[in-house]
Amino acid sequence: MDEKKAEAFADNLVNTLNNGALCLMISIGHRTGLFDVMNNLSPSTSEEIAEKSGLNERYVREWLGAMITSKVIDYDPETEKYNLPPEHSAFLTRAAGADNIAVFSQYISELGTVENEIIECFQKGGGVPYSSFPRFHEIMAEDSGQSVLSTLESHIIPLVPDLSEKLENGISVLDIGCGRGLILTRLAELYPGSKFTGKDLSTEAIEFARHNSKQKGLNNIEFAIKDLTNFDQTAQSETYDLITSFDAIHDQAKPLNVLIGIHKSLKNDGVYLMQDISGTSHVDKDVEHPIGTLLYTISCMHCMTVSLEQGGEGLGAMWGEEKTRDYLQQAGFGSIETNKLDHDIQNYWYVVKK
Ligand SMILES: C[S@@+](CC[C@H](N)C(=O)[O-])C[C@H]1O[C@@H](n2cnc3c(N)ncnc32)[C@H](O)[C@@H]1O
Repeated sequence: MDEKKAEAFADNLVNTLNNGALCLMISIGHRTGLFDVMNNLSPSTSEEIAEKSGLNERYVREWLGAMITSKVIDYDPETEKYNLPPEHSAFLTRAAGADNIAVFSQYISELGTVENEIIECFQKGGGVPYSSFPRFHEIMAEDSGQSVLSTLESHIIPLVPDLSEKLENGISVLDIGCGRGLILTRLAELYPGSKFTGKDLSTEAIEFARHNSKQKGLNNIEFAIKDLTNFDQTAQSETYDLITSFDAIHDQAKPLNVLIGIHKSLKNDGVYLMQDISGTSHVDKDVEHPIGTLLYTISCMHCMTVSLEQGGEGLGAMWGEEKTRDYLQQAGFGSIETNKLDHDIQNYWYVVKK
């Protein structure tokens, strides 16, 4: 045995324990608003931080303990004051917008809630239903609401030549697996001359989407609760000028059926804009992926299992570019362009035509 290799591995595992625990505490810091409160405070005592955030001081102090030992927050033992440095708040607060990495830490605690059910699936097969994930749609909407919405106009719409003009002139748009519909709702706000339809399996997500768009007074958008498993058969022919899916194909029960349905309901000169997880389709190459472990974990404990629970394929989030292109070709698409956005390490953006 290589002693040095073993020692380095053990050290790494110990760090992993600390970092896993830190994720739970970052999620709490985000949800309770502690990071946001500290961002607006000069160095303060635990009592002051607790009071400003309306939280219990004993819990806040213990949370601060984890933040100090992980070097997220600075502490002065003389004054007993705590400080969140600006270099850190730039990635932990709501004010940080799309750079707020704290949002993603919520996936770790969310996945922890289904560990027992996942272990049962390891033993017996099957999957865990969406209903077992208490906050999935909320977290997902926060995730895409920050990572996609922040660059919708600057980076994403420009991926398709002339799309902005077409949306302004008035076209018909369908969003597949729209979840809470924040992206589609923003598009409907930006382009009142176009018509937007969102479809998703989740009643909870669609009710949120309907309520949200109604509150904004939009009358060019509608949402439907729809199981897309047999979309290859149920899709209306040549109906839409633009079809989008944001991170919503790999976790479908039958991804190929959905893609065939998209091909069917896209007009002949239409465009399908597809955001899906970046990966190579080869696990040995995914070793180089900056968040490979995170993505395989989310896949195993969410994307793959929710698909299997629907009697689906369980494709998994890490199906990768090669397999994505293969599925798109099987669905009948002739032109597939893969785009990578500099700020987005998690996704590929495919511009697809018939
Ligand atoms: C990862 S989420 C993405 C949600 C949304 N596009 C976003 O970016 O926030 C995948 C979505 O696919 C939906 N979905 C999963 N299986 C489905 C099915 N069989 N039919 C319709 N939608 C489904 C889920 O309910 C979920 O909202």
